[in-house]
Amino acid sequence: MPTMKTRLVSIAEVSAVTTPCAVVFIAAKGALASTSAALNRAGKGNLKRLINSGECSGKAGKTLLLHQPPGLQAERLLLVGCGEPPNTALAARKVLLAMLAALEPVPGNHALVCLDGLLSDTLDEATLLRQLAYLASLARPAPGTTAAAARKKPRTRRLDIAVPGRLSAARRTALREGVAMALGADTARELGNLPPNKCTPRYLATRARQLARSYKSLSVRVLGEAEQRRQGMGALLAVSQGSREPSQVVVLRYSGAASGQRPVALVGKGVTFDSGGISIKPARTMDEMKFDMCGAAAVFGAVHAVAELGLPLNLVGVVPSAENMPGGSATRPGDVVTSMSGKTIEILNTDAEGRLLLCDALHYTQKNFRPAAMIDIATLTGACVVALGRHASGLLSNHDALAAALLAAGEESGDRAWRLPLWEEYQEELFSNFADVPNIGGHGAGTITAACFLSRFVDDDIAWAHLDIAGAAYRGGGRGKGSTGRPVPLLVQYLLDYCRR
Ligand code: BES
Ligand code: MN
Ligand code: ZN
Repeated sequence: MPTMKTRLVSIAEVSAVTTPCAVVFIAAKGALASTSAALNRAGKGNLKRLINSGECSGKAGKTLLLHQPPGLQAERLLLVGCGEPPNTALAARKVLLAMLAALEPVPGNHALVCLDGLLSDTLDEATLLRQLAYLASLARPAPGTTAAAARKKPRTRRLDIAVPGRLSAARRTALREGVAMALGADTARELGNLPPNKCTPRYLATRARQLARSYKSLSVRVLGEAEQRRQGMGALLAVSQGSREPSQVVVLRYSGAASGQRPVALVGKGVTFDSGGISIKPARTMDEMKFDMCGAAAVFGAVHAVAELGLPLNLVGVVPSAENMPGGSATRPGDVVTSMSGKTIEILNTDAEGRLLLCDALHYTQKNFRPAAMIDIATLTGACVVALGRHASGLLSNHDALAAALLAAGEESGDRAWRLPLWEEYQEELFSNFADVPNIGGHGAGTITAACFLSRFVDDDIAWAHLDIAGAAYRGGGRGKGSTGRPVPLLVQYLLDYCRR
């Protein structure tokens, strides 16, 4: 359940509006925006006095809550500092998050945000509306946590967003897009947070069938192990063979355009638990390897958002899913397997399992769908966390235009990615005496050599990009531990942009 329902309103006289709380934005320097100026006049200069006294500095993220503000019908007035007027989605996000946090304890079931103080020539208004709708709509507490389970009835509130001028279709659309992004991100967060004994490959298949039932535009097919074997997916099967849980390949299809139109394909790593297999991981934080299906979760989330919005494109979501476990029947380091493409792979480290799933899924996807763009999403390498931390997803691509579009969507949504190179020199690391390719490279550049491995299975004429979300997809450690829903906002923004080309 979303925390807040958003809607656009236009108001004539802000001081006359009855609401439990009105919100305005105050810049650190410069004049008051028009609603703040009107409030200031109604309150006989009270806002100016607060600003001059330094109680309301306008510093980004600083808030001040006034009760029974003079001259206003509103019961409360929340002043939110925005520093310099934000010129990126990310800068706006910091201010909006401060606002939402300050509104959280305020009683009443609605509030009114006067957005004019945040509007500027340097930030697209639709970007701002989308971001606000996204943040306000995200479920709080986080889905899949005990706090969410304990809350019997989520407190749904309404956020009225006052904008100057017409409530145009473009503005309503931006709001709808932000709400859908949150819906998708919440789907991803919930799946990511589920424990690995519940969220198995078969469970993901069940959830895909459920999702497909709820939209006419969706259909689903699940390939079990017998079908995987028929298709020759030897790399994927090598991962699941040490587990009691059979691997599954989920194929979700969304039809929003003529059936002849080539689809965009999203391929998500769905390792529901990554113990490392025989190349077993250390015990510390091994529990966090339940998040190793966050790529799959992002595919579910993006497909959910697209179906909700009814976007005019075709989309396929392919989720290869398995559990990586040690055991008597597990793959050994040194085993050689044959992938669906016919290439043989020497498995030197059973912990480099994500690429084994993905190489078969990528081959399957390009063979069956000839996608116009193919994007895989995976918690693929610890090296990516070392390189970029949790602030950006790693992006690697064989196609500059696709890479640029994804980077732009990341900026636009505040869910950023950063490109790393796929140079020939790195490819040379992947050499085996016993197979066409080994599943690991040498020392260094682990994120890049992992992507190099994947690139060996992608046809040259397919525009392909790989998002390594090992750092972005979840927060590890103590109290904040949990799935972030990333990169659903980036993916949905990319698909929105794709439809508007
Ligand atoms: N799922 C892990 C990557 C990972 C590590 C994600 C830490 C999030 C946090 C992946 O399957 C893995 O184990 N990769 C290995 C590759 C190595 C064996 C070449 C890694 O990164 O150590
Ligand atoms: Mn692994
Ligand atoms: Zn893994």
